[in-house]
Amino acid sequence: MSEFKNAKVFAIVNHKGGCGKTTSTVNLASEFARQGNRVLVVDLDPQANATLHIGKIHPAQVNISAAELLTGDHSLLAAAVQEETTIEGVCLISGSLALGKAEDELKDLSPRPNEELRSKLLPADPVFDVILIDCPPSLKLLASNALAAATHVIVPIEAGDQYGLYGAEDLLKKVAQIRRINPNLEMLGALLIKYDDRQTICKLLAGQAENTFGKLLPVKISQGTAVRQAVVMKTSVHGIDRSSKPARQFRQLAAALAKSLKLKLTHDEPLEEEGAA
Ligand SMILES: Nc1ncnc2c1ncn2[C@@H]1O[C@H](COP(=O)(O)OP(=O)(O)O)[C@@H](O)[C@H]1O
Ligand SMILES: [Mg+2]
Repeated sequence: MSEFKNAKVFAIVNHKGGCGKTTSTVNLASEFARQGNRVLVVDLDPQANATLHIGKIHPAQVNISAAELLTGDHSLLAAAVQEETTIEGVCLISGSLALGKAEDELKDLSPRPNEELRSKLLPADPVFDVILIDCPPSLKLLASNALAAATHVIVPIEAGDQYGLYGAEDLLKKVAQIRRINPNLEMLGALLIKYDDRQTICKLLAGQAENTFGKLLPVKISQGTAVRQAVVMKTSVHGIDRSSKPARQFRQLAAALAKSLKLKLTHDEPLEEEGAA
């Protein structure tokens, strides 16, 4: 099976709900775009939170969402990609409630049920530098499709949640299983969300997450009100308050990833050295 040669494809995955997948997807997309990359967000969650956040069309009104693309013809790709979102430089393949049904259909009808997304997205490889796939809170077929299409995996973990790592072994098993059809899939590690280094629980969880996933992403994301305001205002945290901690941290994280993965990095400001507080 052919592979992505140009685009870096990130699966943002964790079957736990509310750990920061959509927040990470949207804000990393915004930062990669600000660095000069051509960015596509693929919303694979039936709840369509990423679509509600950055889409210009309500998910119920979208004709060709990720669901139709997954179960339909290759020719649907162009119609599925929405060129404009509320974030400049970011395109979107919308999520929708139909993704639930699409998942069942794939299981019953597709000869390679895990590989539909990869095969449908491959023609977009030369068009985008970055593709971010926002996953649903499950490890079923939609998540498998994201992992099979991805070049890299990021696992957001809520740092203050004592059960934040519950189920991590299942996630790692799923990644190992999908590596049989996608051998170059690279685990970038756990991304700690709502991290506060004054809280012992956060430090403990960071250590455990590093042991479990082998590594942590180099920047941790603090809790900040700008993150939720950004959802309401349909923009990025950068768009709400560029000097807020989460905005600076997403900027630094995207820059670190851009450097290590050789993406475009045309920063309009110097990077200050900072961990999370
Ligand atoms: N760094 C943060 N600071 C404050 N709130 C956050 C932060 N990250 C995420 N949230 C909030 O936590 C909730 C869950 O995040 P979300 O990204 O939707 O998780 P998931 O997509 O994994 O279900 C959302 O209401 C989101 O706005
Ligand atoms: Mg989500």
